[in-house]
Amino acid sequence: MRRIPIVIDTDPGIDDAAALGLAFYRDELDVKLITTVSGNVDIHNITRNALKLVTFFDKDIPVAKGMETPLLNPALGNKVHGETGMDGYNFPEPARTILKEHAVEATRSLLEESEEKITLVPVGPLTNIAALLLMYPQLKDKIERVVLMGGSLSGGNVNGAAEFNIWADPHAAKIVFESGLDIVMIGLDVTLKARIGEDVLSKSPNKSAEMFDAIFRNYRDGDMEQGVAMHDSCAIAYLTNPEMFTVEPRHVKVVTEGPASGMTMEVFRNEEPNVHVAVGIDVEAFKEWFLGTLAKMV
Ligand code: BDR
Ligand code: CA
Repeated sequence: MRRIPIVIDTDPGIDDAAALGLAFYRDELDVKLITTVSGNVDIHNITRNALKLVTFFDKDIPVAKGMETPLLNPALGNKVHGETGMDGYNFPEPARTILKEHAVEATRSLLEESEEKITLVPVGPLTNIAALLLMYPQLKDKIERVVLMGGSLSGGNVNGAAEFNIWADPHAAKIVFESGLDIVMIGLDVTLKARIGEDVLSKSPNKSAEMFDAIFRNYRDGDMEQGVAMHDSCAIAYLTNPEMFTVEPRHVKVVTEGPASGMTMEVFRNEEPNVHVAVGIDVEAFKEWFLGTLAKMV
C-alpha cells in the first residue's frame, strides 16, 4: 500500500494529542514531520507537548518549532485547553529534542527533497502554512493538498461567527484559502459531531486510552458521558477514510477584520469553488475508526 506522506502542523492541545496519536498508528499515513504553531497555548508549551507525545508513543518523527505569534494579531490562547495544553496526565519527560530548523524551513527542506508530493495537515492556526506560501511560493507544486481542521459554515466556537483556528490567525487563513492549493476544510460542521467519551475509551484498556481519558477530562467541560469533540482527529480520519465524510466544493472567504473576524463565510453566487468543505460525517463510522485505531496503540 502506498502510504500518504504528511506533515502535521499542530498546537497540542488536547484533541491535537489524540490526532497525533491516531495518525502515528494508521498504516495509510507516513508522518514525515511535526511542526508546532502558537495557538491553544504558547509555543513553548505546545512544542514541549509535541515532544512529550512522540516520546509517549515512542515514535522517531522529527518535531520543528514554528511561529510564536500569528502574522498580525497577538497570540491569545484558548482557555479550554488548560494551562499547559495537556494537563491531567503525568507524561514522561521528553526524550527527544526539536530540529534546529524552524518549522517553515523544515517543511521547505522536506518539500524540496521529497520525490513525491506531500500533504499538509494543519490542525492549528495557519500561521506556518501562510509563512511557507509567502516565503516559498514556488513550492506549491510540491504540495499534494492541504487537509485542514478549521472554520465552519454553521457558526463558531469562539463566538457566533468564528472557529478558533481561523479566528486565531485570520490573515494567515486568508492567504491559505486564496492560495489556489487543493484544500479540504474539515470544520465545526462535522467535528462537533465527532465525540469520543468513556463509552469508546473504556473498550480499549491500554495506556493510550488511559492517557486520553485523563486529558479529555480537562477539555472544555470534560463531559465524558456525551464525549468531547475530536476536531483534529477528523482531519486524520478524512485522510484514511474519506468515505466517512460528505464533502462539497464551495467558495469560502475568510473575514479578517471587525466583529466577525475569523469567520469562514460562504459566497453563493458567481464564484468558483476554492475549497472542499466537509458538510457531513458518519458519526458511528468515526467512532469505530477511532476505537479500531486506539486498539492498535500502546
Ligand atoms: C480547534 O481549536 C482548537 O481548540 C482545537 O485543537 C481544534 O484544532 C477547534 O476549534
Ligand atoms: Ca488544534
